[in-house]
Amino acid sequence: MEDKKLKRRQEIKLKISDLAFGGRGISKEDDLVFFVKDAIPNQDVIAKISKIKKNYVEAYSIETIKKSKDQVDPPCEHFEWCGGCTTQQLDYQKQLYFKQKQISDILNKIAGEKDLDINPIIGCEQTFFYRNKMEYTFSGVPWYIGDESYDDVVIGLHVPKRFDKILNINKCHINHDIFNDILQISKEISVKEKMVPYDVRKHTGFLRFLVIRIGVHTNEVMVNLVTAGYKPEIVKPLVDALVDRIPNIKSIVNTINNKKSNIASGSTKLLYGQEFINEKIGDYTFKISANSFFQTNSYQVKTLYDYIIKTAEFKESDIVYDLYCGAGTIGIYISKFVKKVYGIEIVEDAVKDAKINAELNSIDNIDFYCGDLKDVLGSEKMDNIKKPTTVIVDPPRPGLHPNTLKNLLKIKPKKIIYVSCNPATMARDLEILINEKYSIKDLQPIDMFPHTPHVECVTTLILN
Ligand SMILES: C[S@@+](CC[C@H](N)C(=O)[O-])C[C@H]1O[C@@H](n2cnc3c(N)ncnc32)[C@H](O)[C@@H]1O
Repeated sequence: MEDKKLKRRQEIKLKISDLAFGGRGISKEDDLVFFVKDAIPNQDVIAKISKIKKNYVEAYSIETIKKSKDQVDPPCEHFEWCGGCTTQQLDYQKQLYFKQKQISDILNKIAGEKDLDINPIIGCEQTFFYRNKMEYTFSGVPWYIGDESYDDVVIGLHVPKRFDKILNINKCHINHDIFNDILQISKEISVKEKMVPYDVRKHTGFLRFLVIRIGVHTNEVMVNLVTAGYKPEIVKPLVDALVDRIPNIKSIVNTINNKKSNIASGSTKLLYGQEFINEKIGDYTFKISANSFFQTNSYQVKTLYDYIIKTAEFKESDIVYDLYCGAGTIGIYISKFVKKVYGIEIVEDAVKDAKINAELNSIDNIDFYCGDLKDVLGSEKMDNIKKPTTVIVDPPRPGLHPNTLKNLLKIKPKKIIYVSCNPATMARDLEILINEKYSIKDLQPIDMFPHTPHVECVTTLILN
């Protein structure tokens, strides 16, 4: 194929042969690679070109002309428009196959000649309605589909690449099903009461986000209404309706974000019930407040934490650092196998939750510290705490900060357990650890996010 002839918006027939990290279909024609949105392996599609680069072309499927043998009907009515579950049309076992392959492709680049031994990915039993947290946006600017008409307030998710248009969601198939009821009640009341959604272009209006959480194993629900200002009288009808119609609501909070930044965080006021909900992992109970991180798949988190215990082979004498500890869940879960755990986390509310969680579970061999790991790890602030034998890191998607990596290498624990939600940044960090002082002992992919391109991976490293 003559790539010079390709033009933006051109329609082209492509055979999809693979699935790229991130969820787009791959097609290879001559020396050119096409990344095709909304396409899965073994499909033939008509795709429209959206971007032409020197070595690759970006396109999106507009028509499937040959179905893949692994294609299934996506149950979600929003699949075509919503960017959340990009692989919902691919059979779940095949999703797992491709996640395993992507991890192998990414990690083998860092291993040079030798083939890394990667354990078979652990899949989920519950593949729909698994998310315990969802952040929806209130908007007066819907993404129009066909000739559909909308109320003055829609609640939904951003259309991919559009910060200002919201896809009205009726029913999401990956969040807990009760969230769909809460979504409908919130729409009904905000329209009836003429509440004004926030406009992200004009920076006017009031209702910004509807964040819903559930403790799947306790059935306790939290609703966090994020608004541009504190006016509890405006949201009162919505609070009353939710309390009246959702019997397991335990907490309604109001996060106030007066700033232009379009994020669901700020100072938090209590509107109903208590400031937290409880969730259980195995024998442990955890309090989660609105601003604390908690693993979003409560069904699979026990598998992840049990795997950490298995691969770490803790000894009673071990001193463990739980870095990026969130509400202290990993540290508390492993504490009975070791002498002492130190957890470090940047979000103050999460550290407060972690301390409460340790008390709640009668754990007395764990301490928590609040701080940014790039400044705290290896600093004099940590001089009076013991050096670790094992360090568990569970960073957010950008991976480890160079300073954190440098100090981790200085501290030189015998074992590092790297828990990652982004294999690309994990591979980057592993390369440095391997080149300096460590060898990979074990690699275990775990699927926490069916139908999405995301995959979790636990890597165990041993000091050479
Ligand atoms: C993927 S979560 C892991 C949380 C916890 N280990 C768990 O399993 O629930 C990452 C955590 O790192 C925290 N974090 C992000 N950047 C940080 C930093 N620079 N220093 C310390 N903690 C950070 C986040 O607030 C979040 O709680």
